[in-house]
Amino acid sequence: AGELTTVMAGKLTMATNATFPPYEMTTDGGDIEGIDVDTAKAIAEKLGLELQVDDMEFDAALLSVQQGKADIAMAGITVTDERKAVMAFSDSYATGIQSIIVPEGSDIASPDDLAGKKIGTQRGTTGYIYCTDDFGEDSVVAYDNGLTAVQALNNGQVDAVVIDNAPAKEYVAANPGLKVLETSYAEEDYAIGMNKDNTALVEAVNAALEELKADGTLQSIVDKYITA
Ligand code: ARG
Repeated sequence: AGELTTVMAGKLTMATNATFPPYEMTTDGGDIEGIDVDTAKAIAEKLGLELQVDDMEFDAALLSVQQGKADIAMAGITVTDERKAVMAFSDSYATGIQSIIVPEGSDIASPDDLAGKKIGTQRGTTGYIYCTDDFGEDSVVAYDNGLTAVQALNNGQVDAVVIDNAPAKEYVAANPGLKVLETSYAEEDYAIGMNKDNTALVEAVNAALEELKADGTLQSIVDKYITA
């Protein structure tokens, strides 16, 4: 597949949106950490590169690999056909579940009950895409990140938030009075986004990922951030 080239010599540049615990979040000290960051670090190490993490809006992270500004986009990114048309994806490294967060006592108990409600989502995410497809654009509000969507739910500006299960659990743990519905909205695969033209990088990342899966590194990273 040719020689491995990256945006900056010696570096693996990762575009992310660090508002998505436990995959990527910003600590009080301003550090970016999480499952995706540790996994990218392990991949970079295998490729003999130094990881550089760039935090930005979620849709900007998707664009940056398409525009050749970052080598990889890692942000709990769901593989979809629309995205596959414009970017390359690694093999999947995790399963994502679109979940519904509602206030305790809400009459919303399943995805169908979202009809006629105001739904909060993060801009550019599959939660936004599915909800606008299923319930129409007027029913869906797009927020900059999951946390602001959850704050809007707390303030009664929306009736529910549709977001990936792992951050949903963390947001709900920090916000008494909210709960995650048992019935999920959709199941999906997370993968690493890359530029369509960089086939050498796609192959190298897949090879590294396979080793990290086989030797238990990936699982131990997940276990570090997700307990129970
Ligand atoms: N899995 C969803 C998607 O790909 C949401 C990902 C949001 N990630 C983030 N770091 N904010 O659309």
